[in-house]
Amino acid sequence: MTTTRLLLGSLAIALLATACGPKPEAGAGGHEAEAPVSEHSSAGLPAGSIAAGEKLASTKGATGQACVDCHGKEGAAPIDPNYPKLAGQYHDYIASALAMYRDGRRQNSLMASQAKELTDQQIADLSAYFGSRQRVVHDLAEHTQ
Ligand code: HEC
Repeated sequence: MTTTRLLLGSLAIALLATACGPKPEAGAGGHEAEAPVSEHSSAGLPAGSIAAGEKLASTKGATGQACVDCHGKEGAAPIDPNYPKLAGQYHDYIASALAMYRDGRRQNSLMASQAKELTDQQIADLSAYFGSRQRVVHDLAEHTQ
């Protein structure tokens, strides 16, 4: 009797473990905690150097333009009001956006050509630099009145 109960108990635990195991479609709904780890997620990037990022931000790339040519000095004064400010943005967000432009998960013709040649290290450096500038992006709390 006791043995049967033990066996049944183990069986129940085994079934539960299977039921709670990873589901292949987990994350499809966009829930962050369940999202599959992307090999291009900012979490997989090396540590960034602010100094290297600063240099790179004003280095003209393949298109003949530098980041600051469009996003403005320190990423704080875009040349077009529709271009995003980068200064003080979360470095993780910047890195994630750049990685997405690079591999086409986020599409924008201007940024695709900017990001396609960037290495992981350059993305980390640029993100560290722009993220470290004085904050000019505001969160929603500041917009509710
Ligand atoms: C030719 C102008 C131009 C250049 C040069 C440029 N950008 Fe952009 N950038 C844009 C535009 C326009 C957008 C908005 C695109 C969109 O809506 O997805 C953007 C978006 C971004 C974003 C996403 C910001 C957000 O809030 O989601 C990041 C990060 C970014 N750029 C970083 C860079 C970096 C780093 C460089 C240099 C390697 C660079 N950009 C060079 C025009 C430019």
